[in-house]
Amino acid sequence: MSLVNLLKKTCRKTLFTTPSHAQGFFIFHKLRNFYKYDISETEAHDPETALSKAESKATKIYGTKSTSFLTNGSTSGIIGAVLSCVNSGEKVLLWKNAHPCHLNAVKLAGGIPVFYDLEKIEEWDIYDKTTPEIIEKYLKDRGIKAVLVTSPSYEGIVSPIREIKKVCEKYGAYLIVDEAHGALYPFSENLPKSSVRLRRQLQ
Ligand SMILES: Cc1ncc(COP(=O)(O)O)c(C=O)c1O
Repeated sequence: MSLVNLLKKTCRKTLFTTPSHAQGFFIFHKLRNFYKYDISETEAHDPETALSKAESKATKIYGTKSTSFLTNGSTSGIIGAVLSCVNSGEKVLLWKNAHPCHLNAVKLAGGIPVFYDLEKIEEWDIYDKTTPEIIEKYLKDRGIKAVLVTSPSYEGIVSPIREIKKVCEKYGAYLIVDEAHGALYPFSENLPKSSVRLRRQLQ
């Protein structure tokens, strides 16, 4: 059974468990219907098959080798990525104003944070993109194990990931791209390329 069908099947008239909106019963705005699909684990026994089917579909959509849904938002993805690349005592390059989960992930791995700064686009009062030049300046002589880049930024600034990846490869550093704000990129040709797609083109 697909995940969507599983969720449809578990829509109940009366719900005695969480969530406390009771699948929209206590919601009074026009999005009420969406809440029907918000269920607790007690209503979906044994959802493994539906979830793994949905993950396989997502693998095709995103063009990844494999896809695992996160149960704790982008934070858990960033933490997982950093923990899998960085050992205790190794240096990680990260943006000074990145989401706090970047630094927390480095701390959890026992890594040493090295911070880079970005220029501001004064007209908009927002930070500019990360460039390969900025990254190379740090990778040259500091023995950095992994680089964390946010692209797109919250404001939609996209960094040249293809070029940044080449610099990371040159110095043998892992590149972790936080694409929390780019999840919709694979769905339109009019949007920038997802960094996952760029990775495939580079191989
Ligand atoms: C760029 C970026 N990365 C990571 C996160 C963390 O996301 P979550 O709250 O889903 O853990 C956020 C949240 O706003 C974010 O903007």
